[in-house]
Formats: sequence, C-alpha cells, structure tokens
Amino acid sequence: MTITGVKGFNDILPADVGKWHHIEGVARRVFELYGFSEIRVPVLEKTELFTRSIGDDTDIVEKEMYSFTDKGDNRVTMRPEGTAGVIRAFIEHKLHRTDPVAKLYYMGPMFRYERPQKGRYRQFHQIGAELSGVTSPMVDAQILTMLCHYFAELGLTEPTLQINSLGCSECRPPYRQKLKDFLQVRLHSLCEDCRRRYENNPLRVLDCKATGCREATVAAPSVLDNLCHGCADHFAETKCYLRDVGTRYEINSRMVRGLDYYTRTTFELVTSLLGSQSAVAAGGRYDRLIEQLGGPQLPGIGFAMGVERIVLLLSEQDFRKRPDLFFVYLGESAQKKSFTLMSELLQMGVSVEIDYEGKSLKSQMRRADKSRARYTLVIGENELNKGMVVLKDMDNGVQLDMVLDSHNISRIVRCNPYQPT
Ligand code: HAM
Repeated sequence: MTITGVKGFNDILPADVGKWHHIEGVARRVFELYGFSEIRVPVLEKTELFTRSIGDDTDIVEKEMYSFTDKGDNRVTMRPEGTAGVIRAFIEHKLHRTDPVAKLYYMGPMFRYERPQKGRYRQFHQIGAELSGVTSPMVDAQILTMLCHYFAELGLTEPTLQINSLGCSECRPPYRQKLKDFLQVRLHSLCEDCRRRYENNPLRVLDCKATGCREATVAAPSVLDNLCHGCADHFAETKCYLRDVGTRYEINSRMVRGLDYYTRTTFELVTSLLGSQSAVAAGGRYDRLIEQLGGPQLPGIGFAMGVERIVLLLSEQDFRKRPDLFFVYLGESAQKKSFTLMSELLQMGVSVEIDYEGKSLKSQMRRADKSRARYTLVIGENELNKGMVVLKDMDNGVQLDMVLDSHNISRIVRCNPYQPT
C-alpha cells in the first residue's frame, strides 16, 4: 500500500510553484516599499501564547489547534496564525527599544484542524504584516491602502475591502450587554453554536451564516452606533484618510473577527469567487495585545492573507517557468556543439533546454513546444559549416539569422522566465 499525504495538508507541485514565487515576491516588494522588514518566527510555540492572545472561547483555541505535549512535558502548539508569534518575538527581543514603531512582515505555514474544502485547509499559508507603536488612524488607512496596493499589483481588483470597528474596553462591554439583552428573547431561533456563543462571545452571533441566526439578528443593535467618542473619532478619521488616498471600502457592521485580540478597526478583503471561503485577507487593530502578552503598553495593527486563496484567484494566469531557449539539433557534431553552447549560456544566466536523448527532429520540436520556450534554435550540419543559425521567436514566429556564438545568442534571448504569459 502506498502512503499518501495527511488530509488537509497539500503538496505544492512544480507546475504551481511559479505562482507562489510571484505572490511572495510581490509581497516582499510592496511591503518593503512601505518600510516593512521580514521576521521569521518558529512554527511551534507554547500553547499558552495562543490561548492568551486568540482567546479561550474562540473556535481556533477551542477546536482547531494542533497541540501536544512534547517529550519534555511541555504543552506546545503548531501556530494557527502568525500575529501571536511575531508579537512574542517583538517583546522577547525588545524590538521596541531599537525603534518604537516596528513594521514587520512574515510568510509561512499555519495549522488549523478545520474541515477541509476548496480554499480551506489544515496546513495553509499566510503572508502577514504587523505594525506596532502607532495609535494614529493614519496608520490604519496606510495598512489598508498597502493591502489594496498589493492586490492591485497582482492584477486582482475584484476583492472588496470591508471595514468595521469593534470598539475598545470602554465601549465594548456595554454594547455586549445590549446585544445579549437583544438576543436573550431570540435564543430559540439561534443555532446550537450561537446559543453557546451567547454566553461567552455574543458578538460572534452577528457573524453566523445560518439562516435562522441571520433572520433573528436583522434588527440587532449595531456596534458602530455604540462606540465611545474616542473609538467613533478614530473610525471617522480612518475613513477620511482612506477617502483622501482613494482607497475604496464598504462598511460591514456585522463583521466580527474569530480572534479575541481586536480593538477598534477590523477589516476583511472579500471575494465572491471562492464560495463560502470568501475572505482572502483579514486583520485589524490590537491595542491591548502587546501589553497582555507581557510587553510594553503599545498599540498594534496588522493583517494576514491566505496564500492558497490568492493562488485560486490567480488560477486563470499561467505562472509556469519558461525556458529562454530550446536547442534542436541534427547529427552528432551538432549535438556536441549544442551541449557546449548550452553550458556557456547557462553560465551567462540564460535558461536552456535540450532533448538529451537525441530523438527525431519531429519529436525534438514537439518537446520544444511543450516546454513553452520563448526561442528555439535548430542546428544541423549546414549551420555548423556556415557558423550561422536561425533563431525563432516562438511567441510571434519571427525568425532571425545570427552568428552561432553564445554571447550573441545570450544578448537576444534574455527574458524574465517568471513573467505570466
Ligand atoms: P484570520 O482571519 O484567522 O486572521 O486569517 C487570515 C486569512 O488567512 C483568512 O482571511 C484566510 O484568507 C486565511 N485562512 C485562514 N484559515 C485558513 C484555512 N484553514 N485555509 C486556508 N486559508 C485560511 C488571522 O490569522 C490574523 N492573525 C490576522 C491578523 C494579523 N490580524 C492582525 N494581524
């Protein structure tokens, strides 16, 4: 019997990996443009880090974490998200002492024991960014603008930015009570999960997709009508900055994030193209988290994008690597010459493919086609004698006579193999 992979844990095959490089490369370029530096933190953390940050009553902590006791009797968890680990490292290495405003980004695998379906996996990848040390709503607007800038660079303009404010420790408790009072007389209409959420996490009822819960909460009090002055001003200014820089958004006052650390601004980038897994990126402000995890009293804000979901959105584009050049040869001398030229060109950074087995001309041409090489060169006795060769541009069929020399060939065929076609 063959051994297969673990359910919900996927391989990323060579045919897809170009897309991943592109997604990661554009993130590095755009985030670094905005002053973010990369941080790499471990996959494994102490379980307590996640229970204290994400919250005991969340689905992630209650049901989805890959936690175990290691051989040294320590409770550890494979990270279900990136923020907690990044903030842990920020505090542990006292990064705020170097610069109170830290801008960090990260990418890598996360783990949640969810029911796998299209766009939802047990091992999935996030690219995220976290900014700490700034309370100004200018930074909320900039983070959101950077996120939209990133998607625009990928050529994805369909996802819509939805924003909300969840208030702070001053205005959220009275709102929570108001919502509970509203829900109490409607408990019978709520799904089983929401009846449980009513006690510990009533705001999550607003986010439930069940029809009964949706209908029962149509007239629920809105969090945005119950913000304190400070939070209302912060939200109004964030919107104002967004409008000033032309970043489009919608208000979604029912958006409640599945992690407990959020305060004030929260947001999601949603698409209609991925069925029920509609969020391609999400995040928000967490002004108490750094302090809660034992660090200084500093605010923070950030987001994470689901890479598999972006890959799905880009699925119409072809990111497979293209060789620059394919050598087709006829006869033994031409084979030898092709092999030498190939080595010289590879040293010059030109990616070259060849049919190593010396099959028929027809079969070599077929391979050249299949490789999607940008150019082909056919070398036979004639070409060897004259020292001239015909270079064919496979994209437009244009043919060019040229001297059979690697420097000459290299000048013409250099192109970027990761460009989508
Ligand atoms: P999250 O909403 O739990 O937030 O996840 C962020 C994104 O990760 C989602 O919008 C989705 O695209 C992707 N994602 C989540 N779960 C899965 C899954 N099972 N399979 C595939 N993709 C998934 C966070 O994780 C926060 N740490 C975001 C944040 C950063 N907030 C502040 N800073």
